[in-house]
Amino acid sequence: MRPNLFRTRITELLGIRHPILAGGLGPKVSDARYVAAIVNAGGMGFIVGAGFPDAGEFRDQLRRCRELTDGKAFGVNLYISRQSGGVDRVMRQVDILLEEGVSCVETAGASPEPIVKLLRDAGVKVLHKVPAVRYAQNAARLGVDGVIIVGNDCGGHPGIYGIGSIVQAAHAARVLDIPFAIGGGIGTGSQIAAVLAMGADAVVMGTRLLVAEELWIHRDVKAMVVAGDGTESVVVKKSLRDHHRVYRNASAEAVLALDDAKVTDFEQYRPHVMGALAHQAYVSGDTRTGMLDYGPAAVFADKVEPAEAILDRLVDEAVAAAGRLSTLEARDARA
Ligand SMILES: Cc1cc2nc3c(=O)[nH]c(=O)nc-3n(C[C@H](O)[C@H](O)[C@H](O)COP(=O)(O)O)c2cc1C
Repeated sequence: MRPNLFRTRITELLGIRHPILAGGLGPKVSDARYVAAIVNAGGMGFIVGAGFPDAGEFRDQLRRCRELTDGKAFGVNLYISRQSGGVDRVMRQVDILLEEGVSCVETAGASPEPIVKLLRDAGVKVLHKVPAVRYAQNAARLGVDGVIIVGNDCGGHPGIYGIGSIVQAAHAARVLDIPFAIGGGIGTGSQIAAVLAMGADAVVMGTRLLVAEELWIHRDVKAMVVAGDGTESVVVKKSLRDHHRVYRNASAEAVLALDDAKVTDFEQYRPHVMGALAHQAYVSGDTRTGMLDYGPAAVFADKVEPAEAILDRLVDEAVAAAGRLSTLEARDARA
């Protein structure tokens, strides 16, 4: 593992070695084993609560992660649904994660307002993930510890505005006082150095890390990611204003056809977007069906290797990129 080479507000806040967050991967993709591998490699990972709705199974995942990390800090991703009952579902998991001593939470979806105080009073760091700086400003007013802002390139939910990560990073640096991470399309150390230079405190990655050896998903899914050059990534469900960036397979094509026809009745989408289809694809390796979150950063996922090897490469590249800037310094400026 590389030493601590970049110190930021987020590395300090979370007590991690590298400014690298591995965003939660649903439905059950980021489990204890994967999160522990990221944490042991010097980053921060998040077990997706929604993937383990059974209280006993969720608790087991937390205990297993604690064991595999020898007690190091690790995180949980809590998706707060906008539908009724969303907060109650999350609340049950909040009780468990507090009992099990989880040290940080990545919230996503609806506003984290109902749980921020509870978590922070218990010493849990709260990072709220949003797809635009305007939502990050709202979250800052709620008193979260930090925000994660994802741009239009992100695998998963890029929001309705379609603003790219490089604009979000520069905008966030101008208007936010709290620590922030930038994600969406990030898969190289040069991008890490770039957003740190722009004022960010960390990056968040999802797609690039789908090739981590410790992920349980079928090897054919990882092979698909390695083979991809990013052009297979497409945003669907725009007609529902629930933009979702996924792998372009038969299900995505069917949803695109509904989008083109401006269909707004969710029942027509349901057979193509059911979470069970994606889970089946991750288990079987048959990626023709299911909404498989997938961004253009797949182009950087060049081989399957342990999480630690991926993070080491990223850190080396970030150091090299930071060094390159000093080689570009004009002679007159040094005089
Ligand atoms: C396979 C996959 C599953 C994901 N599932 C979730 C999820 O359940 N909850 C969530 O908040 N974000 C989810 N995300 C988003 C990631 O946490 C992260 O924000 C995003 O991947 C960053 O963009 P990138 O894919 O360009 O690196 C998922 C992403 C991927 C690739």
